Amino acid sequence: MPNPLYRRNIISVSDLTTGQLELLLHTALKLKAEPRGDLLAGRLVASCFFEPSTRTRLSFETAVQRLGGQVIGFADGANTSAKKGETLADTARIISGYTDAIIQRHPKDGAARVLAEFSKVPVINAGDGTNQHPSQTLLDLVTIYETQGRLDKLKIAMAGDLKYGRTVHSLCQALKRWGCEFAFVSPPSLAMPDYITEELDEAGCRHRVLPNLETAAEWADILYMTRVQRERFDEQEFARIQGRFNLDPSVLAGAKANLRVLHPLPRVDEIHPDTDATPYACYFEQAANGVYARMAILSLVLNEEV
Ligand code: CP
Repeated sequence: MPNPLYRRNIISVSDLTTGQLELLLHTALKLKAEPRGDLLAGRLVASCFFEPSTRTRLSFETAVQRLGGQVIGFADGANTSAKKGETLADTARIISGYTDAIIQRHPKDGAARVLAEFSKVPVINAGDGTNQHPSQTLLDLVTIYETQGRLDKLKIAMAGDLKYGRTVHSLCQALKRWGCEFAFVSPPSLAMPDYITEELDEAGCRHRVLPNLETAAEWADILYMTRVQRERFDEQEFARIQGRFNLDPSVLAGAKANLRVLHPLPRVDEIHPDTDATPYACYFEQAANGVYARMAILSLVLNEEV
């Protein structure tokens, strides 16, 4: 029997069953422990980034090449025929005629699903607008599992921009499967959207709003930081909230020993560099896990058996 992800599009965490997420997680851990250089031999993958990226693009491209495959693509949509008005539907028809899979990052919500509708080969969503970032979720799950030894019934605090941050949306939709409890710390205008809190309610996962990072750090097993973007606020409002969502070692004074701080990165001011030397900092290990998470996705989508 082929694995259930063979030839599948990976667009949203919500499309994946808990069993499929577990398969991805365990494949990533296996590929980290036992590297394979053959799983994409003879395969050509398109890496199409219409929006800036450091980690996602380079770790996907590293994953393809370390698995024995080859990559074509672009890092800037401004150099493609999208600039001349070519539609995503035609882009899908063209690139899927050249390659075995397409990885796409795009600034518009829903762009990955549109591409998949017109592609003859599997599409992997590398982030679409404020919507979804499923490969980031998988590397977050790998890191949480590695650091906590389990996924079930963990206390997950999320801080920063919870409204527009696609990584926290995808991660809630994954971790609700394992009965996790959630706490949110954000400016009111950047609170977690209702559709996510409603999904948590339906899954029976408790969630609360906490007033500051100190309380969240004392409560949580995982503190997932995100960037509050200055451009979301007028100058006065930004001056009022600035600093309230920034982490430094003093904020972690009351943390439990098992607390780990994650961040999808890039960071700007929200995690002070002094935090990097604390035993809680785990964001660089998290970013490194991106290669194994993306190896797992590519291997399972492009091979009947792994
Ligand atoms: N975490 C993340 O998506 O980083 P990049 O934007 O650098 O890919």
